[in-house]
Amino acid sequence: MQGDIERVLFDEPAIHRRLDELAAQISKNYRDRELTVIAVLSGSLMFMADLLRRVPLPLKLDFLSAASYHGKAQTSGEVIFKQLALPDVTDRDILIVDDILDSGHTLAAVCEKLETAKPCSVRVCVLLSKMKQRARCVDTDYVGFEIEDEFVVGYGLDFRERYRNLPYIGVLRKELLEQSSE
Ligand code: IMP
Ligand code: MG
Repeated sequence: MQGDIERVLFDEPAIHRRLDELAAQISKNYRDRELTVIAVLSGSLMFMADLLRRVPLPLKLDFLSAASYHGKAQTSGEVIFKQLALPDVTDRDILIVDDILDSGHTLAAVCEKLETAKPCSVRVCVLLSKMKQRARCVDTDYVGFEIEDEFVVGYGLDFRERYRNLPYIGVLRKELLEQSSE
């Protein structure tokens, strides 16, 4: 698995240092409000777990399961929600937590879906944001790291469901992506 990584972008200590900063910002901004976190599965799992353990507020946690890649390294643009029940977000202050903002399709669809339930406020927190022109515009409130437009894996991020358990974030070797693009 390690041999499939072209280079490490953020190792564990670098990720954890940045999470300390993000958690401090979030804790300050929500100190007088009851926060409801909606984590977008599966990619945000590690990030959400490590981030929220650093936020000492009485928050609620719920999940949405969304997919737009369907086994490819390019988004299909079609976002599928894998469960029917919408988290209860009416009149709540919502923080959406996701792994990475790429084309914007996923987070735009997630925001639209949650907004139908009339939350009080919606903010977006992503671990990674690719610096690129997006198909859909998404306003982010908390961003861990901005990265180049490269395919990354590890720390929750997958390629065809692999590499999620790497403790760091790295760029996947290009030939692995090419081999599998039909
Ligand atoms: P978007 O809809 O194109 O913004 O992509 C969002 C989703 O695609 C993320 O939540 C990830 O699951 C996946 N994704 C986008 N870029 C990458 C990447 O570089 N590595 C792994 N997954 C990615
Ligand atoms: Mg994801």
